[in-house]
Amino acid sequence: MQYLRKTDPVTLSIIRAEEKRQREELMLIPSENYASRAVLEASGSVLTNKYAEGYPRRRYYQGNTNIDDVELLAQERAKKLFGVPHANVQPYSGSPANSAVQFATLEPGDTVMGLALASGGHLTHGHPKITFSGKFFKSVQYNVGKNGWLDYDEIAKMAKREKPKLIIAGTTAYPRILDWKKFSQIAESVGAYLMADIAHIAGLVVAGAHPSPVRWVHVVTTTTHKTLRGPRGAMILVTARGLKKDPDFGSKIDRAVFPALQGGPHNHTTAGIAVALREAQGKLFKTYGKQIVKNAKALAESLMKKGFELVSGGTDNHLMLVDLRNKGVSGWVVAWALDKAGIILNYNSVPFDTNPPMFPSGMRLGTPGVTSRGMKEREMVRIGTWINEVVEHVKDEKLPGDKEQRTVWTKAFLGRVAKDRFLAKIRGEVRSLARRFPLPGIDR
Ligand SMILES: Cc1ncc(COP(=O)(O)O)c(C=O)c1O
Repeated sequence: MQYLRKTDPVTLSIIRAEEKRQREELMLIPSENYASRAVLEASGSVLTNKYAEGYPRRRYYQGNTNIDDVELLAQERAKKLFGVPHANVQPYSGSPANSAVQFATLEPGDTVMGLALASGGHLTHGHPKITFSGKFFKSVQYNVGKNGWLDYDEIAKMAKREKPKLIIAGTTAYPRILDWKKFSQIAESVGAYLMADIAHIAGLVVAGAHPSPVRWVHVVTTTTHKTLRGPRGAMILVTARGLKKDPDFGSKIDRAVFPALQGGPHNHTTAGIAVALREAQGKLFKTYGKQIVKNAKALAESLMKKGFELVSGGTDNHLMLVDLRNKGVSGWVVAWALDKAGIILNYNSVPFDTNPPMFPSGMRLGTPGVTSRGMKEREMVRIGTWINEVVEHVKDEKLPGDKEQRTVWTKAFLGRVAKDRFLAKIRGEVRSLARRFPLPGIDR
């Protein structure tokens, strides 16, 4: 970055600090990952300079020959990799992609049915009142059962009762395999569109580590920056089943992205997506996807052996949701203590949580990032041990129930953990381990 060093050393120093942080800490947030050098190069290219409203060969701006080529390339690779007849690679991110599908399939006031946020769904799946989908449509939300698993009989009953026009199947904090066939039967029984949001698991689907929804649903949305390891972006994939339901469905999706919701596509991101899709075609990526799941199972096992309770009793995919109530400590406290120890995950509500979302009872963690760095089961056991040590260390830190007291307490707690010697010792051990595994995209 020799030019940045000369022209804007302040920005460069922030970027370098973030590289160091990523190199020395353990990235366990299940929605994060490392892009390859090639993806970073394509995403940082001159393609960012161009306006290209419209679609290949149908642009509203001149000078788009090369942009057309890169978008067609990304589309073709997406279609081949996922086995779909139509791909839109323009959504700026996962949320706009989900909004576009709802815009294409629903009229204001129509019913959309998705998994509740508190049960592991995403905000864009119809979360009431505060989101686009919850505000403009009639949103009904299903939940996981008491055991933390999706209850397909309950979902079927709700669909029969509410007659949604669109059903969304997809999760952001659910550790089990999704049964696409069952979702499909439910959607068919009420004549609804079925959308699979595979933002979290796209890389697992490509690797064969999670069943593909393509045969069963009308449309698939995915981000490109999670298990797929591309740049921050998204895709909408229309399936053969989708085109059978409505031969114009592909065009409706395209029109919902542009001009309904977006302007010019981010062509540099499109190039990064094309590169990531090529990387995902290879044998290595299949091995990678399978290792993510092996690592998650090893980490889950290590935690459960130490008395941690995992929602649903374990994991079949890349993530786990830990209910900390039996440990008597808040997810907020644990996540911040781990942050100081260099172990980065996020505090998260667990299903039927008795605590508020800002101070929930659980933590969510996953293995896509550490697997990208080349870590295996052995390292997962080590990480499980560190997590346990940190939880034991902060177990007696009790968040006050009273709001005002809590504000004072949380500030004091963050000050305490920042200076905590034990957490600093773990941080040193974490750093030594992390440095043995190169930072993808940066370290050679
Ligand atoms: C299942 C799911 N869908 C959609 C999104 C939204 O993606 P973005 O944050 O890129 O808008 C997320 C984000 O984490 C997600 O987990």
